[in-house]
Amino acid sequence: MKNTAQPLLEEYQIGDLKLKNRVVMASLTRGRATNAGLVPTPLMAEYYAQRASAGLILSEGTWMNAQSIGFTNVPGIYTKEQVEGWKLVTKAVHDKAGLIFSQLGHIGSASHPDFFNGELPVGPSAINPQTRSFTPEGFKDSLTPRELSIADIKRTIEDYRQAAQNAKDAGFDGVEVHAIAGMLIPQFLSAATNQRTDEYGGSIEKRARIVFDILDAITEVWDSSRVAIKFMPVALSSVGIMTPDEETIPTFQYILKKLSGYNLAFLHIAGPAEDLTGTAVEALQDNYFSHFRRNYSGRLMANLGFTQESGNAILKEGTADLVSFGAAFIANPDLAERFEHHLPLSESDRDTYYAGGEKGYTDYSRAVYADAGAQAGGTGQE
Ligand SMILES: Cc1cc2nc3c(=O)[nH]c(=O)nc-3n(C[C@H](O)[C@H](O)[C@H](O)COP(=O)(O)O)c2cc1C
Repeated sequence: MKNTAQPLLEEYQIGDLKLKNRVVMASLTRGRATNAGLVPTPLMAEYYAQRASAGLILSEGTWMNAQSIGFTNVPGIYTKEQVEGWKLVTKAVHDKAGLIFSQLGHIGSASHPDFFNGELPVGPSAINPQTRSFTPEGFKDSLTPRELSIADIKRTIEDYRQAAQNAKDAGFDGVEVHAIAGMLIPQFLSAATNQRTDEYGGSIEKRARIVFDILDAITEVWDSSRVAIKFMPVALSSVGIMTPDEETIPTFQYILKKLSGYNLAFLHIAGPAEDLTGTAVEALQDNYFSHFRRNYSGRLMANLGFTQESGNAILKEGTADLVSFGAAFIANPDLAERFEHHLPLSESDRDTYYAGGEKGYTDYSRAVYADAGAQAGGTGQE
């Protein structure tokens, strides 16, 4: 339905998938898979079901194989038990008429031996990314990782294919490849962390090859209209040595041109979080999303710092097709309805972002809709 006042509340079609609005819940790591097998729990199913009025939910970043781990109590999707756990989540969301994609992640070298019985994490090259990993004992500095061999890379790509199949078996509606700053994929894209001299390093094209190898593997399992990828091309802090450089803009121009031929569900772009003045990506300061819009011909999802007002504005001007909201979904499970009824947003408690059981997780209430019917008549729906 058209909603000229609030395009965020319009339905949106992605292939054969109908989103009931364009308010997408962005992936939020919440650290509630508090069991040795990193299996999703009934509490997680309740949390996601509470947020099912979003047009689409993107699951928290989820480990795609046992080597991809690097943050405590984050669930995986590489064992039978984990797939069974996710079935609870997808069923709970579908029972509330919601849609949910699985976000498949590999943290690469930004991990710690504490997750691997003392073995080193892996990366494109044996270069310390100089970031931190949230281990069961708290934050620890990253180390120099073990360089992935070609055989390791091929196995990792095959593991992505298997994780995508597992997501299908678990009842997800699609998958999003987690490639935001700091993860394994951007570690391949950056010359600071990728000094390989084989087909996965050396030039922009070779460093970016992993992106397409992974997408090619996943689209063997899913129709491309159910596959998305999320990048945060200009993260300046918390990314160690992977800060944007003079190759960042050409790298993404190359990737976006090639991705335009993939007919993906959407390309999800986050950022910028900081002022880009004086950085190698300063040229994107005033035209960030329109730059990506120009360089990519498919559906574009915009993220980071959006409000009801700026979200409606970017859709109205046509610079993006969908808007995702991250932090706002923590304390506002009914975010889309709050937008619909122009209700105030609740503040979330940062101390419970990554830990705390039910507290700060499933105990945020929905807004009270005493006169919701009356207000709904005045939202400009046509
Ligand atoms: C607690 C928390 C956990 C997050 N976990 C993930 C994650 O697992 N995967 C991901 O792609 N982004 C993650 N993000 C980033 C969000 O998806 C989003 O890109 C970011 O919060 C900016 O959107 P916002 O300004 O609407 O919050 C996380 C953000 C927060 C606050």
